[in-house]
Amino acid sequence: MSKNAFCLQVPKKDGERTLKIANKLGLTDKTLLIQKGKDDLLYIPLIRQLEEKELTLLTTHVPQLKLGAKSFLKKNKQPQTLADVLKNELEPTLLGALPRAIDVVGDIAIIEIPPRLEAYKHLVGNAILKTHKNIRTVLAKAGAVKGTYRLREFEFIVGEQKTKTLHKENGCSYFVDVAKAYFSPRLSSEHNRVASLVQSGENIVDLFAGVGPFVVLIAKKHPDVKVYGVDINADAIDLLKKNARLNRVENRVYAVAGDARQVVNEKLEGVADRVIMNLPETAVEFIDTACKALKSSGGVVHFYGFVRLNESIENLKQRFVAAVEKSGRQVKIFSYIKPVRETAPREYQVVLDTKIL
Ligand SMILES: C[S@@+](CC[C@H](N)C(=O)[O-])C[C@H]1O[C@@H](n2cnc3c(N)ncnc32)[C@H](O)[C@@H]1O
Repeated sequence: MSKNAFCLQVPKKDGERTLKIANKLGLTDKTLLIQKGKDDLLYIPLIRQLEEKELTLLTTHVPQLKLGAKSFLKKNKQPQTLADVLKNELEPTLLGALPRAIDVVGDIAIIEIPPRLEAYKHLVGNAILKTHKNIRTVLAKAGAVKGTYRLREFEFIVGEQKTKTLHKENGCSYFVDVAKAYFSPRLSSEHNRVASLVQSGENIVDLFAGVGPFVVLIAKKHPDVKVYGVDINADAIDLLKKNARLNRVENRVYAVAGDARQVVNEKLEGVADRVIMNLPETAVEFIDTACKALKSSGGVVHFYGFVRLNESIENLKQRFVAAVEKSGRQVKIFSYIKPVRETAPREYQVVLDTKIL
């Protein structure tokens, strides 16, 4: 689409200066594309003809400036929201049901399609490709996170049919396969918070490491630590090893495939200054394992649990303290307690940072 407009003709070398003045005077037509002409000339579209004093000002600064008129291409405005793109295709009530939260993992968008929009899911997927230029694939959640590996099923909606991608988080890059190993972009701040607490020279054990967003980041931030990442899912450990290499921290990352309890019993007893336990569903069953992994002098545990409906954080703390004491250790202090995110209606993932003796 094009439009005729008055314009300024200037040598390319004067383009930036001219544009600055024209913008200041509010003369540039920003809906049209500036054109390059022959002989290194630029054509800057205007919203109207110049007044005498505006021309004088411009030519004082850019003596070679000439006036003209020509046809300019209109800028392709990128639609901002899904509702913008779909406003002519969906009724207002359906527009109101469009997904607000889109999880972006690398170039994959993961959405929840409400039942009312089931018949329009491809329309919604294509609108996401239009509004998010970095997205190549749209997947819909097709169930809850479940099972030992904490995976969910996805339905392919549009784009490239794939579940593997490269995700960037906190300055690190991660190979992720959302169908084969757990990964949530919503934990980015938590990964960073924990990594920032690590002290020089520590040994860290992540009992449920996944593809390594705690492990790799800690190793990257702290060149003088050793980080052990355990996961029962062999695919997660393969990705963790790749991610350690990708971020050049393989010399301080030790990735072990297996059940956390067994791995600690066999290889990691008494090695840790810090233990990370991000398996909120069942981490409570592994508190004895975390205690066993800690050095005899004690250390820090980052424990994640769910608090649902009428349960309270206080309940979670009590269960934690009881399990620690059953393992012959003591909770010296809870240094940080906070809901990390809402995981379902009235269900929160909560973190307890504790010092254990
Ligand atoms: C919620 S994910 C957390 C992954 C990672 N820490 C993160 O922040 O993305 C929990 C991980 O624990 C692993 N897991 C479950 N049971 C386990 C066990 N008994 N021993 C070791 N890993 C286990 C799962 O395979 C999954 O990758």
